[in-house]
Amino acid sequence: MNGRDLVRSIRVVRAVGPVQGLRSVRTAWRRRRADASAFPRRVAERARVPGAVRGAEPQPGGGVIHFARSSLRVRVAAGGAVFCGWDEAAPEPSYALAGACPEVDARAVLEPDREGGWRVVSERVWVAVSRHGAVEVRTPGGVMLRRELPPRWWDRVGQGEDGAGEEDGARPQGAGGSRWVLRSEVAADARFFGLGGRAGGPRLRGGTYRLWNTDPGGAFGPGDDPLSLTMPVQLVVADAGTHLVFHDNSWDGRVALREGEEGAGSGHDRPGTCELRMDGGPLRYWVLVGTPARVLLGWTALTGAPALPPRWALGHQHARWGFGGEGEVRRVVAGYRARGLPLSALHLDIDHYDGHRVFTVDRARYPDLPGLARELRADGVRLVSIVDPAVKAAPGDAVYEGGAAADAFVRDARGREVRGVVWPGESVFPDFTDARVRKWWGALYAERVAQGFAGVWHDMNEPVSFAAFGEPTLPRSARHALEGRGGDHREAHNVYGLAMARAGYEGLCELRPDERPFLFSRSGWAGLQRYGGTWSGDVATGWPGLRASLSLVMGLGLCGVPYSGPDVGGFSAVPSPELYLRWFQLAAYLPLFRTHSAIWAGRREPWEFGPQVLAHARTALCERERLLPYFDTLGQLARLTGAPYVRPVWWNAPRDRALRDCEDAFLLGDALLVAPVLEAGATRRAVRLPRGRWYDTVTGRAYEGPGQVVVEAPLSRIPVLARAGAVLPVAGADGGTELEVWEPAAGRRGGGLVVPDAGDGWGRPTVERYVSRLEDGRVVVERQDGSAAGYPVRVRGPGEAP
Ligand code: GLC
Repeated sequence: MNGRDLVRSIRVVRAVGPVQGLRSVRTAWRRRRADASAFPRRVAERARVPGAVRGAEPQPGGGVIHFARSSLRVRVAAGGAVFCGWDEAAPEPSYALAGACPEVDARAVLEPDREGGWRVVSERVWVAVSRHGAVEVRTPGGVMLRRELPPRWWDRVGQGEDGAGEEDGARPQGAGGSRWVLRSEVAADARFFGLGGRAGGPRLRGGTYRLWNTDPGGAFGPGDDPLSLTMPVQLVVADAGTHLVFHDNSWDGRVALREGEEGAGSGHDRPGTCELRMDGGPLRYWVLVGTPARVLLGWTALTGAPALPPRWALGHQHARWGFGGEGEVRRVVAGYRARGLPLSALHLDIDHYDGHRVFTVDRARYPDLPGLARELRADGVRLVSIVDPAVKAAPGDAVYEGGAAADAFVRDARGREVRGVVWPGESVFPDFTDARVRKWWGALYAERVAQGFAGVWHDMNEPVSFAAFGEPTLPRSARHALEGRGGDHREAHNVYGLAMARAGYEGLCELRPDERPFLFSRSGWAGLQRYGGTWSGDVATGWPGLRASLSLVMGLGLCGVPYSGPDVGGFSAVPSPELYLRWFQLAAYLPLFRTHSAIWAGRREPWEFGPQVLAHARTALCERERLLPYFDTLGQLARLTGAPYVRPVWWNAPRDRALRDCEDAFLLGDALLVAPVLEAGATRRAVRLPRGRWYDTVTGRAYEGPGQVVVEAPLSRIPVLARAGAVLPVAGADGGTELEVWEPAAGRRGGGLVVPDAGDGWGRPTVERYVSRLEDGRVVVERQDGSAAGYPVRVRGPGEAP
């Protein structure tokens, strides 16, 4: 048992009591035994590289290049995404892709090069394949973005694990159990981002990052990796250009990154390197090239448009593990109301279940949940329910009996239900990789809808099974349907949360066809955004946890999941008033704005931290309310373009190296730059500005970028700067939308997009474009088509009194 195991065991016992703690010892043993018998310790393996090129076959959009011991398919899709698949790997089947594989770009052609290799030339990108299988991705101008060395596989020799014998000389099957490694080089100045939710980012420094969704087992900080939502998606930003690479493989893996160095040893640049080692699964990847905005647009086209949260989900939400019951829920809501604090939803955690069993209600504490939901709803507050995947393995439990009858639960290699331990005790796990099971599970949400819940919060879906030692999840040998292909947990683990999100989302769409579902999920994988958002999980209370929260939101946005946010105040302990306030102020500018805490970690209501904090939290809440039309617009734009609400400050200037290294501020859409306070005691902070003029939104003071400035950050607020010329929709005093326009600099134009609120249904959005300019010292705003702005206009800028 290592240190992390020990911490986890203590947490398990603390959370579920000694009986379950003992059970978790038993399941850990069971897990170890199951895997030991399913996977022989020693397997004979033979290393393989592609070998020398033998020829090529052109195909629409590219072609297949044959090597002595493998082949590589290169295909350019319409829109410029490049697919590369070794060993005959095709783009499908894939859990990440949104639907049908994109059409090919028929203009991209495969042609021989002068060195005996091949290349595919397309409008946006070039792919050059060397005689031994190195692959270079270049811009149309020929500048190199990424160079992949020939891959290496370790194929099983003799009797394969799937029972398939492999004859000497026959082409091995790379798509199955072969381990492989792929080493790549990027420019010396390149910076890495992404890999899903990483606490130590957003810039991913040199180190090894694991691709295996993991409940960190207690609160996590910046040093903890991996977490609940990993993804083999890297965004690489360099002077030469930005690219995204996605290795479409859900197996366990490790990414070792090393940033490059310019002018290293004898004045030569040392490239940045990335080494990806996967335990199995296909070696196939997509590369997208362009500006950050273009790359995210392409990524969204490939993996699906982000679900649009209903409008209320952009307001403030309050959660807590351990509300005592209806009375306390009413008291909290009344507390918000009495103090004039906006609140849009309240979340019920596992303690509202009967014995922690999913899809049940503790009737003693919540005698009339539908009644409570109606009452709160009349007051503008929705209820959101936690939903855990584990089902108590108890004869007589309706969900268990229904699932057993439908053969819905994951089984082991010998065909027995896999048992684990989670909150309700001994539990079984639905196999969400089976369409039939998703359908069954989705229909269960009818019970949640009947209880009056407006949205769902998926948790523990890495999936977690408490283990006193070893990994807190299912045995690797557990069997999964994998959409009929059949396979085991090594392949299904990372997509478990994603497939659960699909089940929930589709279930809710059927149950309430006129409303957009509200769903967010702790675990997931590439494509999660199609079904909902995420949150940062059990982030540790403390200043490092606050920083980690921002890293997670930014990193996930760059991987295509725009809607997320942290537990305000941190999950694990009682925050100091100052820490709570700074967390609150940051989260007021993040898509998911939710206070939450563990059952042992005190309260999170803004009035629990003294009158001063309450006053400043109120300011943040009111500003959030005022910005709701802007958040609406950003949600719509995320859906239409993949651009996240929260963007790194280099979003529009990826070549600005100082911005590239700036991790403590972000752009909220195009108009605002938010600079949270991430340190104790700070009342001013340095802010790195992109080029152009920026106004402090409270004092009106103008700053000129690019460069670094020091701005005031009193306890009452965090610095928020507006871009000169920006036009953004905000709520006016009468509740209607008005346009806020920040005075353009002389001789410069500005503008902004507005997507009016389309309600909670599926209405198609209209995008209005506004432009602003200074004319004879007067600010003029009009719609791009020349018509007058359809909303009242409020001009803001220098000299504005605070
Ligand atoms: C997990 C969740 C946390 C929740 C708790 C109890 O730790 O991450 O948010 O409160 O479980 O359900």
